[in-house]
Amino acid sequence: MMLLGVFGDQRVRHSLSPAMHNAVLAQQGLKGCYLPFAVEPARLPQATEGIRALGLAGVNVTVPHKQAVVPCLDALKGEAERLGAVNTIVNQEGVLVGHNTDVAGFGNALAQAGFQAAGRRALVLGAGGAARAVVLALTRAGAARVWVAGRTLPKVQALADDLQAAAAELKQGAELVAEVHLLVNATSVSSAAESASLAALAAGLTTGGACSLVVDLNYGRPDNLWQGWARRQGARFMDGLAMLAHQARLSFELWTGIKPPLAQFLAGLDKAA
Ligand code: ATR
Repeated sequence: MMLLGVFGDQRVRHSLSPAMHNAVLAQQGLKGCYLPFAVEPARLPQATEGIRALGLAGVNVTVPHKQAVVPCLDALKGEAERLGAVNTIVNQEGVLVGHNTDVAGFGNALAQAGFQAAGRRALVLGAGGAARAVVLALTRAGAARVWVAGRTLPKVQALADDLQAAAAELKQGAELVAEVHLLVNATSVSSAAESASLAALAAGLTTGGACSLVVDLNYGRPDNLWQGWARRQGARFMDGLAMLAHQARLSFELWTGIKPPLAQFLAGLDKAA
């Protein structure tokens, strides 16, 4: 029996990852189970040790633990090491190895949407772990310029310095959006009910520039602010489900050595939504 799961906070109870992974495990004929774990930040080291103690094959890591989990691990691989952020832990016979499949997951979701990032300009809102993964994916894909705008300027500046992006204050986003081909919301806010200041920003975004695609990394939010702007701008809109499926597929491969078709992950999400 392969035991898997996802570490998050209380929000993990709404995650679609368990339903998606359990559907794919069943489709693949694997005996396994993927569970959501709401972990208090202070107990993250104990929970991580529990992977080893209980013999879990691995877990995903989500908000707010992606960076905090790093010191609890034995090793980091690839993008996880570059970003200092982990979304996938693999238990290799008692050695806990951190990976980051968000970077490739975002790149794959963009490619699926037919968006070529090479030579294009992008604006990323937010400066957390998800924003880091998006900026790295865009610079790796050869984006000409990536601006990062957020409410906590020192965090934005640190992200920009680490990943060769340009830092901006959140309010500058309203004008910067006219300069870009792609807008990505990597904050945790997608509706007016969640933040009046981001709602005001979304309402004030300039239209008429070259932006042709808007990506919101969140999903399942009613009255989506970023979808509303995409409509006014005449741009396409993609929510976070595509990236969720792509990163999940790469995590599944790390745990099982099997890379099922993307359609199985999307079908699992469809059933759960
Ligand atoms: P993740 O790992 O998914 O990126 P996170 O680290 O909690 O999650 O990051 C969420 C981002 O949303 C952060 O950049 C956060 O702003 P701070 O950098 O100031 O923490 C941003 N965010 C959350 N609520 C926000 C709000 N009301 N207005 C602006 N930004 C917000």
